[in-house]
Amino acid sequence: MVEKVDVSARAASIEYAIRDVVVPAIELEKEGHEIIRLNIGDPLAYDGLPTPEHMVAAYKRALDSQDNGYGPSYGLPELRQAIAEGETRKGWPCSEDDVYVTHGVTEALQIIFAAFLEEGSKVLAPGPHYPPYMAYPQMYGATTVEYRLDPDDNWRIDLEDIASKMDDSVRLLVLINPNNPTGNVATPAEIDALIDIARDYPKCTIISDEIYDGLDFTGKMCSAASRSHSVPVIALNGVSKVYFAPGWRIGYMAWHDPEGRLSLVRDGVERLLRSRLCASTPAQHGYLAGITGDHGWLETHRARVKERLDYCMRRIGEIDGLECEAPGGAFYLFVRITGESAASDKQWVLDLLHQHHVLVVHGSGFSPQYGAGHFRMVCLPPIETLAEAFDRMESFLGV
Ligand SMILES: Cc1ncc(COP(=O)(O)O)c(C=O)c1O
Repeated sequence: MVEKVDVSARAASIEYAIRDVVVPAIELEKEGHEIIRLNIGDPLAYDGLPTPEHMVAAYKRALDSQDNGYGPSYGLPELRQAIAEGETRKGWPCSEDDVYVTHGVTEALQIIFAAFLEEGSKVLAPGPHYPPYMAYPQMYGATTVEYRLDPDDNWRIDLEDIASKMDDSVRLLVLINPNNPTGNVATPAEIDALIDIARDYPKCTIISDEIYDGLDFTGKMCSAASRSHSVPVIALNGVSKVYFAPGWRIGYMAWHDPEGRLSLVRDGVERLLRSRLCASTPAQHGYLAGITGDHGWLETHRARVKERLDYCMRRIGEIDGLECEAPGGAFYLFVRITGESAASDKQWVLDLLHQHHVLVVHGSGFSPQYGAGHFRMVCLPPIETLAEAFDRMESFLGV
């Protein structure tokens, strides 16, 4: 018998619900079934939401001109400058030096967690939340504590719950705005209140993940950094969602540190960035073209997403057994299962997949405590595909 090499506890405990449910879906596809995949927040997986042509052309030009070498560790200077100007337009004084380009927001998160967290540190993140906010901190001996989003009030941030869970070991307070998976958009007043809470804890930095900011349908979306005059805020954003190019793997963190509290941790971040060399050079050129180019195309994309979102809300409203708070942004619906089967949302999702070949993600994968009894679906496919998915859900629920 071969003696197996042990896996580290840290790797063995990692879960990513959004892709974990794909494993049984692939098995069914191998058997010849056609699965409607509504699990992943990738607009390119569906018709009608392509990466803008001028961005693709810039990426190709970089390839054609052999711009395929390593780039600077913190990002191409012209891209850092363009990002800084974009953040400044959002209302805070961002300079090129405040911006670090990464392989997506996901890599930025890994670097931030590695630099901020020690054994015993806490991250306070919304419940429900995008899964890496729970999965990664534990790799550094830290824990993620969830603060409550109110399921009966459009998943609004429960500020009292945040206040009751703050202490000096909370190093990072996370805002995801617009939120994945709920689509809630925080108001400026709510962001101000969150910053007020953090102000009493000098070791606490706010992470504001604004990767869906251009997909705000409420008109209320504002940059958290623009609201803070003392508490440090790290804004996260990138090419994946609002520029419709998630496969390019380009994102950034922009550091707003009005009182200069973060110089030590920033040195650590820069060391980590240098040690992982750089982000993809040609992809950065593509993103630069997106940021500096005309944004007229975004209106069409946004309108298409909104039309599909509205269609989903209408269909859910007509189905006995499902309910959904209206999302204010992003491209997800976090749907409540109202019947008895809500007790096991994962089983519900697997049964829907096996019996009717529609793939969604169980809500408990976004938070065992606050997401249970729900599922998350994307509203990205064309309406004909969504119509078929809802018809199948109706059959599944026997309505
Ligand atoms: C809130 C949030 N942050 C970050 C990401 C991932 O960003 P990136 O593709 O830049 O790594 C996602 C992807 O779904 C997300 O929903």
